Amino acid sequence: MTDTAPQSAVRDTLAEFEAGAARAFEVAEDAETLRELESTLLGRRSRLGDLQRQLSTFAPEDRRDLGQAIQAARARLVELAGARRADLDARARADALAADRLDLTEAMSLGAGWGGPGRTDSGGGDPALPWRGHLNLVTQTRDALEDTFVSLGFSVAEGPEAETDWYNFEALNMPPAHPARGMWDTLYLRLGAPETVLLRTHTSPVQVRTMESEKPPIYVVAPGRCYRRDTPDARHLPVFHQIEGLVVDRGITFGDLAGTIEAFTTAYFGPDVHSRLRPSYFPFTEPSAEFEVTCPICGGAGCRTCSHSGWIELGGCGMVDPAVFAAVGIDAEEYSGFAFGFGIDRLAQVRVGLADMRTLLDNDLRFLRQF
Ligand code: PHE
Repeated sequence: MTDTAPQSAVRDTLAEFEAGAARAFEVAEDAETLRELESTLLGRRSRLGDLQRQLSTFAPEDRRDLGQAIQAARARLVELAGARRADLDARARADALAADRLDLTEAMSLGAGWGGPGRTDSGGGDPALPWRGHLNLVTQTRDALEDTFVSLGFSVAEGPEAETDWYNFEALNMPPAHPARGMWDTLYLRLGAPETVLLRTHTSPVQVRTMESEKPPIYVVAPGRCYRRDTPDARHLPVFHQIEGLVVDRGITFGDLAGTIEAFTTAYFGPDVHSRLRPSYFPFTEPSAEFEVTCPICGGAGCRTCSHSGWIELGGCGMVDPAVFAAVGIDAEEYSGFAFGFGIDRLAQVRVGLADMRTLLDNDLRFLRQF
């Protein structure tokens, strides 16, 4: 027996329920609310579940129609809830991204006019804004030296600041107790046997390391920090920087050394500055020389910076001693080479006419901002 009234009543209830549930899903504000709604509206104890259970009271054909209607309504609601969940997930992701985003636009706009935050030393910014930092004069000098040598065909090598006695002295033709070791006041580290590990006193150990790891032809420069047990004064710092040069190839002569020093000098200082070599002594080069450049401050006329000589001593150089080649296993019959090394801080001092090198360490912004 078919009871039409209750069947249409069930359909009405279903339609009403579906509309209400659909609305609830659409306005669910977060994933948690959505999950609760799904359980109360679609779960076993839901209104939908009740309707399902009522089916048994209907005649079989009505039961099938009504059952299909309920299933269809459920399927639509499940799909709706899924769509809502996807929306909510996307919104949560977007919110998280927005929260993680660093807003740099304000800082950038503060530097309006030249494209960066703060103001430059050369002015041109709002005086109320903070200064923009820049590289220290010594670092700028090192970079410029590297660029100059790279443009002359050298590549850049590096070595450790804590060295062994072998690299800093012995391989450079200074066996233990060699008197020339006294040329460098050495700071030793309390590591291993006494006086075997030290802070490198020059960049020359990088020569040895390079010749150990590379085969000629070698054309390298090695800039880096060096340490000596010196009391700081106007022209010395206990922690300073050198740049080392090393060339090893067939048929390299003293003329190549002199020519390279001169080419570097004009490339770095300009055409008005020249170089000269004066005989000197280093255990790892033979013959050895000191190289000097015409004083860039007075142009060679004589001034306080160059002690009125017109020349400034920059560093040492010479032809690689065969004993050094022997220490690294390079055949001195086949190859020859030259090396040079000079102080980067000294060069910076000369270039800007700085009376006292210690100023480089003061971190006084009035000084640093000038460069
Ligand atoms: N290493 C030497 C010094 O510190 C300079 C030098 C380098 C001399 C290379 C000759 C060759 O005084």
